[in-house]
Amino acid sequence: MKLAIIVGLFIISCAAKTVRQERSFPDDFLFGTATASYQIEGGWDADGKGENIWDYMTHNKADVIKDLSNGDIAADTYNNYKMDVEMMRELGLDAYRFSLSWARILPEGFSHNVNEEGVAFYNNYINEMLKYNIQPLITLYHWDLPQKLQELGGFVNPLFSDWFEDYARVAFERFGDRVKFWITFNEPREICYEGYGSATKAPILNATAVGTYLCAKNLVIGHAKAYHAYNKDFKPTQNGQCGITISVNWFGAATDSEEDQIAAELRRQAEWGLYAEPIFSQEGGFPKELSERVAAKSTEQGYGWSRMPLFTDEDRDLVKGSFDFFGVNHYTAYLVSAAEEHKVQYPVPSLYDDSDSYTYTPDEWPQSASAWLKVSR
Ligand SMILES: *[C@@H]1O[C@H](CO)[C@@H](O)[C@H](O)[C@H]1NC(C)=O
Repeated sequence: MKLAIIVGLFIISCAAKTVRQERSFPDDFLFGTATASYQIEGGWDADGKGENIWDYMTHNKADVIKDLSNGDIAADTYNNYKMDVEMMRELGLDAYRFSLSWARILPEGFSHNVNEEGVAFYNNYINEMLKYNIQPLITLYHWDLPQKLQELGGFVNPLFSDWFEDYARVAFERFGDRVKFWITFNEPREICYEGYGSATKAPILNATAVGTYLCAKNLVIGHAKAYHAYNKDFKPTQNGQCGITISVNWFGAATDSEEDQIAAELRRQAEWGLYAEPIFSQEGGFPKELSERVAAKSTEQGYGWSRMPLFTDEDRDLVKGSFDFFGVNHYTAYLVSAAEEHKVQYPVPSLYDDSDSYTYTPDEWPQSASAWLKVSR
């Protein structure tokens, strides 16, 4: 299962906005490792923690996990955090990136009820790192939504962005005196496409026609609200940075043909432009070519509206430019083709059907133990 392995490695540059000529690491470069709360914490119902979507899924539909395992105990970090930090120290880490379990802090998802024991766990964890000069970096959301919020629609409820801002404010308030790097979401594609637009991650909604797009819109607005909350109410005294981390694999055109070039661009928009362009582009909003394609296909398919929602001008402006850094998780690359011979049958309608592009990796690219990780040439 991807969750168990993906968050293993990361490197972050604090000097994201400076240009350097020589190919060496700057002196202030931080080397670190990373984890996710559900992946390591265990203590799934300890001391007032609420249920999250991974607890719910693995407890109610255990066979979605190949070996029927779950994160009830995981690496038991909840009980052994001091040993974890000891290992960080032995590895010589400068930084450690970890995520907060929303339901451990806010068992019902909303900020009216803060679980002080959950807060105390993270305070202890952070303080233990600081003792050894290990810089804590927090991801607010790494895939484990409180189940109570999922029952209200989760990321496809238009109020999601407000719930996320409230949660982010609790985290900034409680931990921001010591934590200077904030990542709102880890890997929006894995949240929206894999969780809502298909069925490979909790909450396995498989709403192929609209799930990815509805989620993407509310996610980037939620990101922006948290970013602006930090910028306005916390940054002036806490002096940290806030950004987002997106999984950015490379999708290169298989040939120089115009069809393949267009297919590759559409694929990049479908994979990560959907989340990056609203925040990092000059124009804001969803990627142009993909939006046009989804709108046209929606009409052909008999929808009276585009399956990809538009941004109001207000939302567009709120989201555009809401970053201090761009976090990149890069794993591998694919070739992209529009040609019939590479055709893959995707569900109709779905994100990949909308993107009119097919990906493949040449046989001669070295394969790792994970089917989705190859070394591109
Ligand atoms: C997801 O939905 C598609 C149709 O849109 C269907 O073909 C596919 O079998 C479903 N997958 C799962 C795991 O339910």
